[in-house]
Amino acid sequence: MTDGLILGIESSCDDTAAAVVDAAGRVHSSVIASQADIHAAHGGVYPELASRAHVQSIIATIDRALADAGVRGQDLRAIGVTRGPGLIGSLLVGLNTATGLAMGWGVPVVGINHLRGHLRSADLEEARVRFPAILLLVSGGHTLLARMTGPTEIDVLGGTRDDSVGEAYDKVGRMLGLGYPGGPAVDRLAATGAPSIQLPRPLRNEGYEFSFSGLKSAVSRIVAQAPPDAHADIAASFVDACLDVLMTKCRRALTAAPAESLVIVGGVAASKQLRAQAGALCAELGVELCLPPLRWSTDNAAMIALAAWDYLALDAPPAPVAQTRLSITEF
Ligand code: KG4
Ligand code: ZN
Repeated sequence: MTDGLILGIESSCDDTAAAVVDAAGRVHSSVIASQADIHAAHGGVYPELASRAHVQSIIATIDRALADAGVRGQDLRAIGVTRGPGLIGSLLVGLNTATGLAMGWGVPVVGINHLRGHLRSADLEEARVRFPAILLLVSGGHTLLARMTGPTEIDVLGGTRDDSVGEAYDKVGRMLGLGYPGGPAVDRLAATGAPSIQLPRPLRNEGYEFSFSGLKSAVSRIVAQAPPDAHADIAASFVDACLDVLMTKCRRALTAAPAESLVIVGGVAASKQLRAQAGALCAELGVELCLPPLRWSTDNAAMIALAAWDYLALDAPPAPVAQTRLSITEF
């Protein structure tokens, strides 16, 4: 009998993922079935194909994660499953699978907000975050800044008014003919160019909200007129504008009230340039930079399992399956 393991299940977008994690955040197994090849042909995630691919791979992915961790389903402490936000068809595959397995195995199931999963990713394998902390979440679907006084005490300072920064990276990647997903390719190309082109830095000088659609449109106008040998400089200028906005807002939040650490999570936190600039900012301000290891920056199920442990630690015991809230709207 293993009392101390949670199975995490993540299927909110284009990866089917399952992982087994203990209460200290140690990852006993993690399996990700990527759909990148399926969506590459369409230049973005095709929701119906994503749902179908989840249906095909979810049971095998969970089986592998359990086998790798050497645990049986009925011996789990609980299942944590992403309940939203995300593609509704994809989410339903994970939610229904988790609920069915939980009923069969007689274990509780906890619905986890995907963003809460990302923010817990910084504590996977070892506890890194010291509070109070400023959180910058930069994923494909979201961009937000928050102040955290504990793993579950989060005050959102600001979000994006339009595109997320990851979405802007992906769209600029597509404009430059870099395929899908564009973010990593834009990051790599930018490192070979010079930030020589003046681009807008929306909302840089005010508050904590973000806006990236104007920047994206400005890049699109420049790409339309530029020769291909200017692409590296365009990518470098775009990344420079994004990071200038992100780092300026982090600096503002870190200096507005005392903070021990800056936590940066979500797929764009895999960017080498973002990591370097955040490192310099934190060194200057004397703040700890907390980044998840690269493999936990992008979508995975280990972060969902760790977030589920937070619920078990609450005073109220986890709800039995029939009463588990699976609302997909709550943060
Ligand atoms: O967190 P994530 O895996 O999925 C969502 O929850 O959305 O984030 C995916 C986003 C995509 O926009 C992808 O292009 C971006 O993260 N991304 C990167 C890098 N790796 C992934 N952006 C910049 N540099 C990277 N190395
Ligand atoms: Zn994500």
